[in-house]
Amino acid sequence: MRGHEIRLEQVCVRFGAVTAVEPTDLTIEAGEFFSILGPSGCGKTTLLRVVSGFLSPSEGRVLIGGRDLTATGPAERPTAMIFQSLALFPQMTVWENVAFGLEARGVDKATRKRRAEELLALVALAEHAGKRPSELSGGQRQRVAIARALAVEPAVLLLDEPLSALDLKLRQHMRAELKAIQRRTGVTFIYITHDQGEALAMSDRIAVMSKGRIEQVATPDGLYATPATPFVATFVGEQNVAEGTIAAIDSGIATLDTPLGRLSGRLIGKAAAGARARLMVRPERLHHAAHVAPTPNTLSAAFARRDLEGPVEMLVFDLDGAQWSIHRQNHGETPRTGPVELAFATEDAMVFAEATP
Ligand SMILES: Nc1ncnc2c1ncn2[C@@H]1O[C@H](COP(=O)(O)OP(=O)(O)OP(=O)(O)O)[C@@H](O)[C@H]1O
Ligand SMILES: [Mg+2]
Repeated sequence: MRGHEIRLEQVCVRFGAVTAVEPTDLTIEAGEFFSILGPSGCGKTTLLRVVSGFLSPSEGRVLIGGRDLTATGPAERPTAMIFQSLALFPQMTVWENVAFGLEARGVDKATRKRRAEELLALVALAEHAGKRPSELSGGQRQRVAIARALAVEPAVLLLDEPLSALDLKLRQHMRAELKAIQRRTGVTFIYITHDQGEALAMSDRIAVMSKGRIEQVATPDGLYATPATPFVATFVGEQNVAEGTIAAIDSGIATLDTPLGRLSGRLIGKAAAGARARLMVRPERLHHAAHVAPTPNTLSAAFARRDLEGPVEMLVFDLDGAQWSIHRQNHGETPRTGPVELAFATEDAMVFAEATP
């Protein structure tokens, strides 16, 4: 089984006066694990329905495996889709649900059952093969849907938030499973999620969407280290943010006057002195001043609280009118309250100027 390339050319979707997807160009490579990440309502499902053929774009073309399939229905496309609200057949057993697509292809019953059992083992449901969907939990039903979509060996698998109903442990297990299945089969996966951890962990590349537009397409590392827009910078990972006015720009470094003092960071995009801008520092790049080399970026703060997350901890500090956080390894104790100096290196901060009208 080999995956196909997908190309969207100027694809746009309008529902009456609402533009759900702005004109979009996108190429997803054959065999790629490609995620679309974005908040609720940004157009992810709509874009996936266009690829599957369940929805015709208002404008533009959809090419799959080099063929223009814009006018081709879902049944004739080499795609399978796992829906956000999945629909299993309630009157069939679990294994019959998984094998459903194989019957139409003339596969005999014994082979269908064996194939279904292999796939059920893959999603850790082997002992539930004879049950009905109503006897399963929501997460188990979701895994049946994944097995069913894989049964027909599609060239492109479209997954719309397939793990959202699972608990954390199972989600992490399924992430690894899905990734392994994708690698083993070479099928192109388009994976929709609003969970950035999921997208970062599994994807070869990620498209970040906001309000019907793709803001950036990059590898997980690229997205995290060099976000192209303030939306991507704050949606993927966390940021400490200070707003201010650019006082100076020199060799790609912008210095801002902010209520927290004068702070410098790497300027992303273009700007001029006098522009309003936001400086952002990731919590793992912020430190106690005593622990880092001297830097012009120091802040007076007071320890507010500690949020333990297991192997790591988040220390929250009150600054003048703001709260900033340090993310670090779990030190096993709550720091003393009182004033502290925080600091970050200039190259660890990003500065985004506000778009000039
Ligand atoms: N059939 C439809 N008719 C009218 N508007 C629609 C239709 N389908 C989607 N929309 C609108 O298009 C926009 C994008 O919807 P879409 O379902 O693609 O969002 P999403 O990114 O998948 O969100 P979620 O994460 O909540 O699933 C929303 O504003 C939605 O209300
Ligand atoms: Mg959706």
